[in-house]
Amino acid sequence: MSIQQKELKIGLFGFGVVGEGLYKVLNQTSSINASIKKVCIKHPEKKRNAPQGLFTTYPEILISDSSINVIVELIDDADAAFDITRRALQAGKAVVSANKKMIAEHLPELIELQKKHNVPSLYEAACCASIPVLRNLEEYYDNDLLQGVCGIVNGSTNYILSKIFEEDKTYTEALKDAQEKGFAESNPDLDVKGIDAVNKLSIILSHAYGVQTPPKNLIHFGIQNILATDAVYAQEKGYEIKLVAKAQKINKDEVAACVLPQFVKKDSLLHSVRNEYNGVIIESGLADAQFFYGKGAGSFPTASAVLSDISALRYDYKYEYKKLHRGKVPTLASDLYLNIYLSVENAFDIPQDKFARIDEWSINEERTYVTGVIAFKELQNTIWWKKEGVSLILLPEPFLSELPEKEPTIKQLQLV
Ligand code: HSE
Repeated sequence: MSIQQKELKIGLFGFGVVGEGLYKVLNQTSSINASIKKVCIKHPEKKRNAPQGLFTTYPEILISDSSINVIVELIDDADAAFDITRRALQAGKAVVSANKKMIAEHLPELIELQKKHNVPSLYEAACCASIPVLRNLEEYYDNDLLQGVCGIVNGSTNYILSKIFEEDKTYTEALKDAQEKGFAESNPDLDVKGIDAVNKLSIILSHAYGVQTPPKNLIHFGIQNILATDAVYAQEKGYEIKLVAKAQKINKDEVAACVLPQFVKKDSLLHSVRNEYNGVIIESGLADAQFFYGKGAGSFPTASAVLSDISALRYDYKYEYKKLHRGKVPTLASDLYLNIYLSVENAFDIPQDKFARIDEWSINEERTYVTGVIAFKELQNTIWWKKEGVSLILLPEPFLSELPEKEPTIKQLQLV
């Protein structure tokens, strides 16, 4: 069903931070010719800043209303969100969603449903909120030149790192702030442990390279083990610590991908991305690096991407998933090496056998750290590096397609 030129009548699920933001923005944007007909909420007892008659607690009222041609799904629960999306697409309604978890976990089914019922599902807001990453990857970078996508894709962790290391706030204060400002997930573990970021990376991989993989299969970790001593190391070297999502072509058939904390050099475009801002570097063969920067979390930035998807539906825009259907889709690489920094409490806890090469050791009364090269496989399906007290941070330019020829050495032994 084409909804081109039609007035968009929206059934909205969820009236939280983003839902309410969208409601306000739509009321001020008459040019889009879209209006919210009904809002389905879970808690009718909550006071809402909108007319009472707009709300219902029955999803079916929205799904079965034939005058509603767009469902906008902005709820927290990923399973319920998938159920709503599935039923809406089956009913021939276009769907706009901001639910990263739902999309990352169900993308193959969503693609199938869109094809079968010939209706689009758009979700730009799910990746980096206000920054138009997906549509650009899908349309503009639709060729073989895309070398890599790398960025800060979680606003809350970036906000927490900025507040702790620049404003001396405690972790608890910074997290509370991020929650109050509406950046954090209702379960902030999703942010802090890198799960939100890896959900986004898995969506990015589909649109950038046609690589479909459940997020849980990608190496990922968050900022939960980072310590003040790691920040001291960073400061000495002129680095910032950021949680970075990376997808990088390492040869013509393989893409390496992970979400890990990383030391970022002063001259990196990511160095100055602070607070809830996100920044994404897209590297393409001819154009070199291009940088997308903007607010990655919060009510209005997310609502702005939802609005843009709603607006795109007026001219029948849909993701074509061209890279998925193109001849040879790259596979996920595992035969590569990583340049890492590893810090532990006790020198005996450094797992020397796991390193392909150790370049630098430093021991002081608090911590021991090493820098060196490790096979990517050492981090796949293992948990030794995730244990409390172990802090693994990627060094700048961390991916190595092969181990540089160099004997295993200990460059430096510092006892300070
Ligand atoms: N919790 C997410 C973040 C919200 O902090 O980035 C936006 O996806």
